[in-house]
Amino acid sequence: MRNNELRGPMAIDTDIIPYDSEHVFEQEALYQEVMMRYHCAILEMRTKLEVLSRDMSVRYRRNPIEFIESRLKTPSSIARKLRGLGEEVSVQSMQEHLSDIAGIRVLCAYIDDIYEIARMLAQQKDVRILTVKDYIKNPKANGYRSYHMIVEIPVSFSDAVVPVRCELQIRTIAMDFWATLDHDMQYKKQVEDSEEIMRELRECADIIHQTDEKMMRLRERIHRIDE
Ligand code: GTP
Ligand code: MG
Repeated sequence: MRNNELRGPMAIDTDIIPYDSEHVFEQEALYQEVMMRYHCAILEMRTKLEVLSRDMSVRYRRNPIEFIESRLKTPSSIARKLRGLGEEVSVQSMQEHLSDIAGIRVLCAYIDDIYEIARMLAQQKDVRILTVKDYIKNPKANGYRSYHMIVEIPVSFSDAVVPVRCELQIRTIAMDFWATLDHDMQYKKQVEDSEEIMRELRECADIIHQTDEKMMRLRERIHRIDE
């Protein structure tokens, strides 16, 4: 894990969050309990991912995961998204309508690591895959690439086992580098030469993808030399 793992869009340290609804939600106690559940789902998912990573590094001498980042959505961001969807701002409504309250981002070195991680997670009995969006095979028009999964995992609490949804974004370090700058751009309101910037960003996304693919092929060739 790197020091700045909670930078940018994933900006809340899930270890210190007090689950305060900041007066956005009326049912404060319920809000806190539900956020605690999402936090615990993040802890479970991180452990699953770390276990996979250790297993693969010992048994196959592969290191598929470079970093894991995670974040809980802030109360104001939850409320903004619910309003945007035309839904009520309540604890019940956020559980029903939002899938990204608990967010986990897995950064891999190579594209094939992404699919390997996704495949191994899908195999686990207690992981229910709700949706998959493969923006690597089908990049977005702006050039965005990443593998997205909405998963549901059971979390055991003192008195019950609760299924909790989280959003996983699995991408290469290079894709993440691009997505971070693209994210910065999306938050700029008035940019004079925005069309030109977006065109160049799109160009970079394609170059990055070509490099990601080339690096994967080079890795194969280099590793073959060892044998
Ligand atoms: P949201 O309502 O924004 O969460 O999107 P969605 O429900 O259509 O789901 P999608 O899987 O497309 O996107 C989920 C998340 O992926 C977003 O919240 C972003 O964090 C990230 N994402 C999606 N598209 C882009 C993009 O074009 N650029 C960047 N930088 N991130 C993106
Ligand atoms: Mg989102």
